[in-house]
Amino acid sequence: MAISASRDAGLIRKESSSRAWSRGVSVARGVPKTSCSRFSTKIAMPGIVRRVTTAERSSIACKATAATVEKSTKQSQQKKSEYEIFTLTTWLFKLEKEGTISNELAVVVSSIALACKQIASLVNRAGISNLTGVAGAQNVQGEDQKKLDVVSNEVFKNCLSTCGRTGVLASEEEDLPVAVDITDAYSGNYIVCFDPLDGSSNIDAGISVGSIWGVYEPSEQCPMDAHDDPNKLVEQCVVNVCQPGKDLACAGYCLYSSSTILVLSVGTGVYGFTLDPTIGEFVLTHKDVKIPDKGKIYSFNEGNMDLWDKGVQDYITSLKNPEKWDGKPYSARYIGSLVGDFHRTLLYGGIYGYPGDKKNKNGKLRLLYECAPMSFLAEQAGGLGSTGTTRILDIVPDAVHQRVPMFVGSKREVEYLESFTKNK
Ligand code: AHG
Ligand code: MN
Ligand code: MN
Repeated sequence: MAISASRDAGLIRKESSSRAWSRGVSVARGVPKTSCSRFSTKIAMPGIVRRVTTAERSSIACKATAATVEKSTKQSQQKKSEYEIFTLTTWLFKLEKEGTISNELAVVVSSIALACKQIASLVNRAGISNLTGVAGAQNVQGEDQKKLDVVSNEVFKNCLSTCGRTGVLASEEEDLPVAVDITDAYSGNYIVCFDPLDGSSNIDAGISVGSIWGVYEPSEQCPMDAHDDPNKLVEQCVVNVCQPGKDLACAGYCLYSSSTILVLSVGTGVYGFTLDPTIGEFVLTHKDVKIPDKGKIYSFNEGNMDLWDKGVQDYITSLKNPEKWDGKPYSARYIGSLVGDFHRTLLYGGIYGYPGDKKNKNGKLRLLYECAPMSFLAEQAGGLGSTGTTRILDIVPDAVHQRVPMFVGSKREVEYLESFTKNK
């Protein structure tokens, strides 16, 4: 009896199932046996298996529908398809749909992601494609440009100027910010500041490098108009670029390392996406990243220690003192690629610092495309970015390639550093 009842119930389920599926309604799949049992017993007489009548079928279907709608909804909410992925594109669509970002900003971020994919591929193949070594020129800051600095700059400029949503581009590798062809009907307003290849002195050794960017809305005081006067246009570009980090619409970086990871914020937390090389897409892997409040790793170029102010020297000395830290002093980790050092700090906690020194009062790192974007990300993750005396995001740049000292990372660690440097 038990066997025939269950066989019969199976027959009923099967039939109602095919009908239901043909109507595009999921009725029988997942119907709990108990919901059909009364009907099963009635139809399945001992030793007899017969098909259900239409009236019985609709009765079963109704009952099954009621019983399963809730369950199948729950199941579809709980069970993810093994093929479901959440990509950067999906994430941008979602933010755009809920009104967090504009459609234009989504296009700008997509263009940056495209540039990063292209650079990841170039970095990966640098040794094979003769892209190691110097380009033979210096940038406006007197630094020797590597071949990949120049190429990555081209890649960023191409992707951003053809996306139709940018008005001004400022790069570490360009003397002045450049206006995107504003006579083009498709050109837009967003301002993008970028370091196309950060840590490029590491490139020939195959060590982690990255790209960094910050995106601003056009300055209200200086709308970008078409101008016959090129000087006026340059002036407008500079004014638009020189905005404080707290006004960033988006900031991010892409790390080219054992994997390619793009980390960004549009002011609603920090999200990380790892490039899946098999499908060429950035896939969400780091959701709403929060930097640990404390972390016992410091990342400074200690070779410069004798050139630093006493406050920073005393701070580093204190981190190394075992007696102060229950016998275990802080660990030193320094790659010499800001993106790599910052990414580790974001995930593990700790502090990254590039102080000013006797030779370079403002240190080495540039406000617009290194310090402000990283400080924005740090704050969005619950950390801090400071010059030692001032919040980095409050600084209004007075020059495109302006440098500032930077201490960035876990809130408690940056505050501890400031206890040595503030009001001294
Ligand atoms: P870039 O390669 O864009 O010029 O930046 C290099 C920066 C940064 O990545 C890194 O943190 C820092 O320079 C390292 O400087 P030192 O070699 O002086 O430590
Ligand atoms: Mn850099
Ligand atoms: Mn660079």
